[in-house]
Amino acid sequence: CFSKVSSHIFKVETPPRRNAGSPKGRNGANLGSMELHVLNHPLVEHKLTVLRDKNTPSSTFRELISELVMLEAYEATRNLDVVDKPIETPVAPMIGKHIAEPRPIIVPVLRAGLGMLDGMTRMIPSAEVGFLGMKRDEDNPTKQITYANRLPDDLTGRQCFLIDPMLATGGTLVAATHYLAERGAKDVTAINIIAAPEGLKFVQEQIDPSIDFKVVVCAVDEKLNDKAYIVPGLGDAGDRLYGVV
Ligand code: URA
Repeated sequence: CFSKVSSHIFKVETPPRRNAGSPKGRNGANLGSMELHVLNHPLVEHKLTVLRDKNTPSSTFRELISELVMLEAYEATRNLDVVDKPIETPVAPMIGKHIAEPRPIIVPVLRAGLGMLDGMTRMIPSAEVGFLGMKRDEDNPTKQITYANRLPDDLTGRQCFLIDPMLATGGTLVAATHYLAERGAKDVTAINIIAAPEGLKFVQEQIDPSIDFKVVVCAVDEKLNDKAYIVPGLGDAGDRLYGVV
């Protein structure tokens, strides 16, 4: 279901259902395609290998997540709104570029998304940070429970960056993206470290196609196992970040 647009940009496509009517709707038929950016870089591959290794301690794991999200941020912020800003260098006046208002907002999905926050705020120090606590219902892995929310009610015109290391079933990402869009977000970019093909397909099928949405990842792995863990993946990202294992 992936087609290549450039060396690292893919479109995730869902074949149209038979007898499909209008190409619209969350559960509709032909939903078009979603832009997926897969970083293609030796430094990313190297860091990802160390990150995945079960013998890598939590302290190194946290540093690598930060470094990887900073590399992803370069790609994820390519369409960040900027405005002209007149300044004077020690040599001459000039018109530079500056991040526009309203400020972008970074939304870590608790708990594992917190591990990506430091890297993102280092790249966009002026961004606002909101929090969304969502977890999958262990009895029904595609259902989500929202247990915490610290976000402005009005996100009109805001560019939103949703951060969560693992895009597994895609349930959290769909729920969180709709949550932001319903509050007026201008666009939503999901930044994940590793994605499963099943999760990408689910996101493509379920996200309202009217939302300006894209996904940036370091790798797309092989599959989900029967416990909805990514294979080969890196295990439970939250546990590895916070030293539970
Ligand atoms: N969440 C994780 O932390 N790891 C997975 O493999 C899937 C979901």
